Amino acid sequence: MSITLSVIKADIGGYVGHSESHPDVIAQAKECIAKVQKTGLLVDYHVTKCGDDLQLIMTHQQGVDSEKIHKLAWDTFVDCTEVAKKLKLHGAGQDLLADAFSGTVKGMGPGVTEMEFEERAAETILIFMADKTSSGAWNMPLYKIFADPFNTIGLVIAANMHAGFAFEVHDIKEHKKITFNAPDEIYDMLVFIGAPSRYMVKAVYHRETKEIAAASSTQRLALLAGRYVGKDDPVCIVRCQGSFPAVGEVLEPFASPILVEGWMRGSHMGPLMPVSIPNSTPTRFDGPPRVVALGFQLSGGKLVGPRDMFDDKSFNLARHQANEMADLMRRHGPFEPHRLPLEEMEYTTMPEVMKKLEGRFTELD
Ligand code: F6R
Ligand code: MG
Ligand code: MG
Repeated sequence: MSITLSVIKADIGGYVGHSESHPDVIAQAKECIAKVQKTGLLVDYHVTKCGDDLQLIMTHQQGVDSEKIHKLAWDTFVDCTEVAKKLKLHGAGQDLLADAFSGTVKGMGPGVTEMEFEERAAETILIFMADKTSSGAWNMPLYKIFADPFNTIGLVIAANMHAGFAFEVHDIKEHKKITFNAPDEIYDMLVFIGAPSRYMVKAVYHRETKEIAAASSTQRLALLAGRYVGKDDPVCIVRCQGSFPAVGEVLEPFASPILVEGWMRGSHMGPLMPVSIPNSTPTRFDGPPRVVALGFQLSGGKLVGPRDMFDDKSFNLARHQANEMADLMRRHGPFEPHRLPLEEMEYTTMPEVMKKLEGRFTELD
């Protein structure tokens, strides 16, 4: 059976500040989607949140980029924005950059990742969702999952994975894409994906079966809006088990927290902390950035689950390390490398300050 899995998300208002989603907003989203589900458009759905981002997880048979599915998401965000406005939530409707729907949510503010595949005898899916970070945050985890044998032993000892995976990489500044084969071309690939604010892993494919293994959202809000309106807070779908990495291999990169961009005012580096859904409440200095993972088995497109995968004691040390890293970064205050380089900052007063000080800069001898 061919099934499409769509994850579409938006920050349409924070409670309190940018730290959490209001239960009334989530309830409204569930109501909107439940109404549509009666029409048979969706096979199944799950509504959740990560920090201040509302997440719509949907299965259907409309294929990727379906206008009907995107419209359902857009209409849901619009209805939820009404609730957010009534409650005067912070930044109500902030990710809805357009006034009206025009065929797709792409380029309109929400983040989206979708994949269509033949459901396997056992279809194990992990959905990662992050808050207070930007779209390139999945580059290193996806590299480790699908190209690093120190993370994924299956690449070495499982015959059905030994041929490796192909990475589709997008240059989001030049709007170009390229595919790299791992392991053959990992040195070339790392030149690019090691710069995650520009080059992003969009999808990963099995090299022998050509099946899709992973897909991520690569929308960059700041580039879309031409100004800061919020962080991308990206999502990523990974298929697991069989000829794909095992669940534990897919979760493993998050046991060693890395530094990502997007903390406070979208202008700071901070550790990506793996947490349960209830703990996706970035409060300290509006962070540190969070990642959650929901696991499902699919059965005829029905979402069996979720399991809250980081709600596990084996990630306690990662959380502790992330807090230590957060302290270390905070020590730098307004200095790099905590603060992002000038051209990457989402907020800046540089033009105004420069103007004010015009004439006070003199030539060096
Ligand atoms: C970071 C984030 C927050 C806000 C900050 C200021 O991604 O969302 O750190 O940037 O709270 O928010 P505004 O400008 O909405 O008052
Ligand atoms: Mg927000
Ligand atoms: Mg957010």
